[in-house]
Amino acid sequence: MPMPAIDPSLIPEDMRPMIHALCATSIRLSGIIARGPLAGKLGAGVGENSDGDQQKALDVMADEMFEAALKGTGVKYYASEEQEEVLTLDDGGRYALATDPLDGSSNIDVNVTIGTIFSIFEAADDASASFLRPARDQICAGYIAYGPQTLMAITFGSGTMLFVLEPETGEFVPVEKAMKLPEAAKEFSINASNRRHWTQPVLAYVEENERGKDGSKGKDMNFRWVGSLVAETHRILTRGGTFLYPSDARQGYENGRLRMVYEVAPMAFLVEQAGGKATDGVKPIMDLTAEELHERRPFVFGSSEEVDRIAELHG
Ligand code: F6P
Repeated sequence: MPMPAIDPSLIPEDMRPMIHALCATSIRLSGIIARGPLAGKLGAGVGENSDGDQQKALDVMADEMFEAALKGTGVKYYASEEQEEVLTLDDGGRYALATDPLDGSSNIDVNVTIGTIFSIFEAADDASASFLRPARDQICAGYIAYGPQTLMAITFGSGTMLFVLEPETGEFVPVEKAMKLPEAAKEFSINASNRRHWTQPVLAYVEENERGKDGSKGKDMNFRWVGSLVAETHRILTRGGTFLYPSDARQGYENGRLRMVYEVAPMAFLVEQAGGKATDGVKPIMDLTAEELHERRPFVFGSSEEVDRIAELHG
C-alpha cells in the first residue's frame, strides 16, 4: 500500500494500515466533494437508512468507499450509519470501527462543510460486545472535515491532534499536536427552530445566553448553527463554544437526534482530549454505554464552564 497519506510515526504501529486507509479514502472523497455537481448528483435522495433517515447518493458512495478500503487493514468489524447490521471485514482483524461516513448530508448540495466521523475499539469476541460498551473504551476517534480545507482531528487517548490536507502532495500535515479548547465560550449552537419542543433546562440555558450582558451571564453570546456536526465540532474545538442536540418533545426525539456509537462517542472523546466536556445533559458521555448500534443520545459538549452550567440547570 502506498504510504504515507499521513506520517506513520504519529500513528500506533498496529493501526497504521487502518488509519492510512481512512486518510487515503477521505482524500479521494474530498476530491469528489470539491467537484460537486461536476461529479454527479451527490445530494440526490437514493433511499432510507435503517432508522428512516433519507440517504443521499454521497452517503452511500462514502460508505462503500470506506468499507472497501478498510478490508485487509486490521478491521474485524465495520459498523456504519448507512448499514443496519455490523459487517465482518476480516475475521483475524484486531479492531472494530464505527463510522458516519458522510455527516451533514443536508449540506452536500450547498457547498457547506460536511465530514466523516469514526470511532475505533479493540474488537471483542462478537460484534455487539465490540461496539456496545462504555465510550471510554474507545482507543481512537476522529473526524475529517471537507470544507475550505480538508482536515482531520484525531485522538489516540493522549491529546487531540489536527492535520490539514496538503492538496499538492496528498498528505495530511500535522498542524497541532494538542488542540486546546478554551474553558470559556462566546458562542452556542442549537437548532433554535425546535424551541417550542425543548425541556425547561435547555430553554433556561438559551434564554440566559440571549440576555447576554444584561443578564446573569454578564457577557454576550453569539448564536451559530451550521447543520453539520463535524463543522460545529471543529469550530468549537478551535475557538470554544457549546453545542446542544438535546432530547425534545417531538416524537422520535426522546433521545435527541445524534447517534451514540458513531457520532456522539467519538466527538466526546475528541472534545475531552482537548480539555472540553461532553455530557447527555447530566452524565459524562464517556461513562455511557450504548445498548443498540444505532441508538440516539442527547448531546451537549464544548467549553467546560458552559457544559457545567448546562448540567447545573439540569439539576
Ligand atoms: O447527522 C445528523 C446531523 O446532520 C448533524 O450533522 C447535525 O448536527 C444535525 O443532524 C442537524 O440536525 P437538524 O436537521 O435538526 O438541524
